Amino acid sequence: MPEATHGQLEINSDGPERTEALGAALGQALGAGDLICLCGDLGAGKTVFCRGIGVGWGANSALTSPTYNLAHEHRRGDANKLYHVDLYRVDGIDDAVTLGLDDMLDEASTTLIEWPERLGSLLPAEHLWIDFALGGAHERLLTFYARGERHAQLLAAFSALITTESGS
Ligand SMILES: Nc1ncnc2c1ncn2[C@@H]1O[C@H](COP(=O)(O)OP(=O)(O)O)[C@@H](O)[C@H]1O
Ligand SMILES: [Mg+2]
Repeated sequence: MPEATHGQLEINSDGPERTEALGAALGQALGAGDLICLCGDLGAGKTVFCRGIGVGWGANSALTSPTYNLAHEHRRGDANKLYHVDLYRVDGIDDAVTLGLDDMLDEASTTLIEWPERLGSLLPAEHLWIDFALGGAHERLLTFYARGERHAQLLAAFSALITTESGS
């Protein structure tokens, strides 16, 4: 990615349970206004990670793939909203505008976007970008790039949580 990065972290996952647990740790650290971009091929584990985020964030409903709906809104009993967007079927920027993404990307919401590269220039400069790379059958390499100070702090909080959980 060409943009400036304010923090970077690489983590190997050895199975879907690990990927979901990593998502749950990030979900605990998320706040309103955070934007998470999940990039990688089909089957790379983006939705598994999002499912974990939903658990850690405390969503009332399970996060499932929104591929055919484009976006799901989740709540947890307070004013916060968690949007889970999947742009796999979006062809271009016009579609993203129609989708109402500008309303989701506001300070009151936390937003997760699968296939964020489809947004092109609509993607806000400040976000946490995660690349998912397929290794062996159950191996995935997750690389986190924080863009902007706010998301660098988020990445640091996440890193501290997983360090504590793994006991290392
Ligand atoms: N380490 C891993 N992390 C995440 N998913 C894994 C892993 N190993 C195997 N898988 C499997 O890969 C698939 C990932 O699916 P999904 O999360 O829907 O992908 P994506 O949303 O990136 O298209 C699931 O079937 C999951 O069980
Ligand atoms: Mg998916």
